[in-house]
Amino acid sequence: MTTNEFRPDASATLRFPAGFRWGTATAAYQIEGAAQEDGRGPSIWDTFSRTPGKVLHGDTGDTAADHYHRMPEDVALLRELGVSDYRFSVAWPRVQPDGRGPASQKGLDFYRRLVDELLDAGIRPVATLYHWDLPQQLETGLPGDSADAAGGGWPRRDTAERFADYTRYVAEALGDRVATWITLNEPWCAAFLGYAAGIHAPGRTDPAAALRAAHHLNLAHGRSVQALRAALPASAEISLTLNLFALRPARDSGADREAVRCVDAVANRLFLDPVFHGRLPEDLVRDTAEVTDWSYVHDGDLEAIATPIDSLGVNYYTPLVVAAGAHTSPSSSRPRSPWPGAAGDVRLPPAPGPRTAMDWPVDAGGLYELLTRLRDELPHTPLLITENGAAYHDYADPEGRVHDPERIAYLHQHLAAVHRAIADGADVRGYFVWSLLDNFEWAYGYSKRFGIVHVDYASQRRTLKDSARWYAAVVARNGVEA
Ligand code: FCB
Repeated sequence: MTTNEFRPDASATLRFPAGFRWGTATAAYQIEGAAQEDGRGPSIWDTFSRTPGKVLHGDTGDTAADHYHRMPEDVALLRELGVSDYRFSVAWPRVQPDGRGPASQKGLDFYRRLVDELLDAGIRPVATLYHWDLPQQLETGLPGDSADAAGGGWPRRDTAERFADYTRYVAEALGDRVATWITLNEPWCAAFLGYAAGIHAPGRTDPAAALRAAHHLNLAHGRSVQALRAALPASAEISLTLNLFALRPARDSGADREAVRCVDAVANRLFLDPVFHGRLPEDLVRDTAEVTDWSYVHDGDLEAIATPIDSLGVNYYTPLVVAAGAHTSPSSSRPRSPWPGAAGDVRLPPAPGPRTAMDWPVDAGGLYELLTRLRDELPHTPLLITENGAAYHDYADPEGRVHDPERIAYLHQHLAAVHRAIADGADVRGYFVWSLLDNFEWAYGYSKRFGIVHVDYASQRRTLKDSARWYAAVVARNGVEA
């Protein structure tokens, strides 16, 4: 080693750019509880979680982490961590219990109090408007609703207009205090896990409805951006969070690369192309010709969807290995698959490597691949990692400590990957750990713990895990060990 290469301090830390935003993320249904308080209406997740067999152990979000009652305590935890930002979601059924009609002041008040508490603590609020808790009545429909072959919920066009109304209420109530807004969280999951695979609310298994849902989620995003622009100061940052997939062909074969193309079209480009380029992926329209004719894409929709946004939120957990599968008939394979159009031809062989408690392979390379893809494809769009993290089987030891070295290793590897992507030109402005608290992990209920803060659900006691202390140190030094 030459003396030039010896940089004791600089080499010990991978330092992030000045002003890098460090946060944690949560979502309303996963932490709030108080499902029937202050006039909150039921959401599709209340209904789904009460349907036998849908959520592990029959868990529901009725109490969750009781954040609705413990919000000041949770903001104090954020202050202790020293984060600059906190990403939360607003529950639509608290603001409009039936998904339409006037706003509930009590519902809005909760978020006003939360935002004020955050601002008092010097923490920037990042508000997500939709993290999957659609008001049930929009899914069920009202007797007077116009007939629509696709039923209610996101396959129904009117839901996008309702979302724009809801956006207006929230923007009016919080627009003077919230600088960063995210319209939707992971519309792929809402559309395809909710309406095709049936493993998320509302639990439908209709691939054509899922594709309609995806378009109407995109439209809802566009209408919501327009409503936010009209209501917010010019300085507001408006964003969208996607769970983009880092896809890898199982083998270096033409067939596997073709399978990757199919999944990329429905999982990534169905959202990226309309939002950033105002067009649908042509190959997807071809792939799905037997399933849908896309006639629900009206003139002007794509222009509305492409209303410019200020940054893109990326959620990343694990890469996906894709292989060409034996073709099976559409009727037997498509209904339960989340990949309409590609379903009969695609297999997802398990990826190698260590796994989290979700059985998701730990592979930070996928995050680097995604960020550098976005650097190349969207060179003028700043990026935020709006979720990244891991579930492990954590427990408090007799001294009340929660040791979670695997989570620390996971976060460390992923932050190093983010750092490498930034060094290679990706414009990443911030990183949010999923999640602040252990919480209701959708179909897995309370069995999966993603928090850097442990929640004992019986007492609702919060305990900082080792990873929380580690993360606080990362935030304080604006970097991770090299
Ligand atoms: C994401 C969701 C988030 C959480 C994590 C583990 O898909 O946005 O609510 O459940 O996965």
